[in-house]
Amino acid sequence: MMIEFVLNGTPRRVEVRPDEWFLHTLRERCGITSLKDGCSPQGQCGACVALVDGVPKTTCAMHSRVADGKRIVTLDGLPAEERQQISDCFATTAGLQCGFCIPGIALRAKAITDRDPVPTREAIARALDLHLCRCTGYVKIIDAIELLAAAKRGAPIPTPCSDGRVGQPLARIGAAQTALGDRPFVDDIAVPGMLHGALVLSPHPRARVVRIDTTRARAVPGVRAVATAADVPGERWYGLLLNDWPGFVAVGEEVRCVGDVLAAVAAADRHTAREAARLVEVSYELLPPVLDPHHALAPDAPRVNPQHENLLERAVVRRGDADAALAASAHVVSGTWTTQRIEHLFLEPESALAEPRPDGTLHLRTQGQGIFEDRRQVARFLGVSQERISVELVPNGGAFGGKEDMSVQAQTALLAQMTGAAVKLTLSREESIRLHPKRHALKMDYTVGCDADGRLTAVKARIIGDSGAYASVGGKVLERAAGHACGAYGVPHVDVESLAVYTNNPPCGAMRGFGANQVHFAMEGCLDLLARKAGLDRWEIRWRNALSVGDTFTTGQVLEKSVGIRKTLQAVKPHYDAALREGRAVGIACGVKNSGIGNGVEEWGKARLVVEADGTVSLYNGYTEMGQGLLTVLVQFAVEATGLPAATFVPKVNSTFDLQCGQTTGSRATLFGGRAVLAAGAKLRADLDAGHALAALTGRVYAGDIVVRDTTALGAPVAKIKTHTAFGYATQVVILDANGRVERVVAAHDAGRVVNPALCSGQVEGAVHMGLGYALTEELRCENGMPVTFKLKEIGVLRARDMPRVEVILVEEPEPEGPMGAKGVGEIGLVPTAAAVAGALEAFDGIRRTTLPMKDSPAARAMSVGFPLGAK
Ligand code: FES
Ligand code: FES
Repeated sequence: MMIEFVLNGTPRRVEVRPDEWFLHTLRERCGITSLKDGCSPQGQCGACVALVDGVPKTTCAMHSRVADGKRIVTLDGLPAEERQQISDCFATTAGLQCGFCIPGIALRAKAITDRDPVPTREAIARALDLHLCRCTGYVKIIDAIELLAAAKRGAPIPTPCSDGRVGQPLARIGAAQTALGDRPFVDDIAVPGMLHGALVLSPHPRARVVRIDTTRARAVPGVRAVATAADVPGERWYGLLLNDWPGFVAVGEEVRCVGDVLAAVAAADRHTAREAARLVEVSYELLPPVLDPHHALAPDAPRVNPQHENLLERAVVRRGDADAALAASAHVVSGTWTTQRIEHLFLEPESALAEPRPDGTLHLRTQGQGIFEDRRQVARFLGVSQERISVELVPNGGAFGGKEDMSVQAQTALLAQMTGAAVKLTLSREESIRLHPKRHALKMDYTVGCDADGRLTAVKARIIGDSGAYASVGGKVLERAAGHACGAYGVPHVDVESLAVYTNNPPCGAMRGFGANQVHFAMEGCLDLLARKAGLDRWEIRWRNALSVGDTFTTGQVLEKSVGIRKTLQAVKPHYDAALREGRAVGIACGVKNSGIGNGVEEWGKARLVVEADGTVSLYNGYTEMGQGLLTVLVQFAVEATGLPAATFVPKVNSTFDLQCGQTTGSRATLFGGRAVLAAGAKLRADLDAGHALAALTGRVYAGDIVVRDTTALGAPVAKIKTHTAFGYATQVVILDANGRVERVVAAHDAGRVVNPALCSGQVEGAVHMGLGYALTEELRCENGMPVTFKLKEIGVLRARDMPRVEVILVEEPEPEGPMGAKGVGEIGLVPTAAAVAGALEAFDGIRRTTLPMKDSPAARAMSVGFPLGAK
């Protein structure tokens, strides 16, 4: 059918399908990619908001026919001055991270500030109800909207910071273009002759594939290829640590989870590809799934994955004699703590674009967390050498660990190889949730003792984690759980064992804070219980046990430097004491998180500075920008090393140079990438100091490679245990209001050295938001291996109106092994949060909660999300 509307002042006449969503009309037929697709057709994330006859509407939930006769305005259609005003406000306030949500929010901000010249923060938060941001915690988004309102009233907008020295709040690289939706994500990119891909996923958690018939799909006009396992020329099984994940499940094999791929289709357009995928006929012989990790360990349990027994990994930490120490302790507490499976819900669903080049190579645009790992696995899958594939990072719309594993890269590359054409494949929200690994659900049995003075004597813990159908990095998550089992405290006797177990549930792998969040919920709960038994204040028992230089971490590593936990405890104390004096229900929890993977893994930082003919310096590195601000921070190190202005540097992440560093994970990119940039920058500086003008150095390449080989494996029989390069530390205080709702969070964090205070505090704010959701509302519940809901609001990620006040206190305890003293803060922001909430809730109603999420609490019930729609 034909519809007519006015788009940004220009009349348009467009042919659409009767059932077409308007977002797809705008993006695919009109080329408006400033509107993003985060959840279509749910209408629950706001990334697709446009002004329809002046009113903000989610275009993904609006049929195109409804747009007939309407006036449509997107950010692209605003006057240049207003666009500048909006982008300046978001850049100046650091009001964006990955930026995928921001164009929709920016248009909403225009509507809010047009309507109300002096909106309160509460009014802004309420007006953002239809919008989801997974990165920021909304604090700085609301700052940006307040600033926009002030600007419209005539107030000047502070110029975004251009001072790139370490310690300055340099505006995020590309902030303005990202805020306006002009900086393309993978799905925004189109190349000539490009085809679109779609996947066929298993609806069953465990079944034998009897037959795959692609005849009907191939017959659909516009379909160019249908790929199945039989078409894979190389190794069909891939994985980060273990090749146990097939890119396609073959006939005769079992599907192992509801995200397994049976076939992939390439067609002229996305709609045709998806329609054809629906016509692929797969017959299954259903098999009983293994859904409980305890059952998976039974001797007669079916084997979930043919590449490995059901016990994926066992990690053990034993020091001293925990049983004897517990028997001799003045006070002992024990209990079982359980945590839930969590969906990352990064706002940008997975997407890849593979483009055959005339020289026979394949160019892969990916948003993965390790582009060289993507290249390695894709090359193996296609049966070609890595040199035949060039790879480029398109900075992604959030990842949080969920984009470490391969998602659609291999299938997209295969379709491109089969058709000889560029292919783009983007998942829907539902497919995304089914396919990528989650945060582990853990069951943790803890027994902890202390002496009469409240000093910890022993920790004994047994931990079991549901790793789902594939290894991913599940073994490492449970290893970190064991290694962080005593939290930020010195404990002389330790007996911890953790198990990662295969099941037919969705795979679990890396997610921000991997393993540490879960065990802190248990360990901090034990501290609260011991405090009561010992008659101590909860801050005091933490102070008495907090790690110091010279103390021994859970793993046996004697800490030699940069232990900032006591500074964070001191920083929150006035807030904690004041809240207690006011009679508030207060919770407090500490946290520690490794920075750098460690545990015996060789780790690299690699950077290249290339002087370009146009006077810029390209800054290549191997780690990924995913909203955390890495590229901005690396530019700041380059500025420090060279003395050149920040605007000189253009960050790039691609395979021009071999900068393999592995995944961007474990809060290590600033730690190691920063050191590499400093090393490369020092060489460029030396040439400048020798009297060379920058222009005279055009074409020179300055390399910075650093390698860390001195960490030791967990439990290794070595004289000096050093499991990790560095650790971040934190203490958080949660204060409830009179109704039991979270009113305020005070988060004190040791960042080593704060490279960029605006980005650093933004990381913590966003992590606290994620931690509060983890504590209260977030859960990806599955039945028979299938998520029970794909609705964003039911999954429980908090909205702006749900957020309490968050006060971030950054403390510095310089890390000698970090660049200029810095260490990673990407993960630790939510490590203590759930435990602090649990403590506050117990102070409020006397109930000690040991299961996440704590939906039975007044704090959870006060939230606008996390319950079935219409149930509240
Ligand atoms: S894409 Fe439209 S609301 Fe999420
Ligand atoms: S900045 Fe909002 S989702 Fe990433």
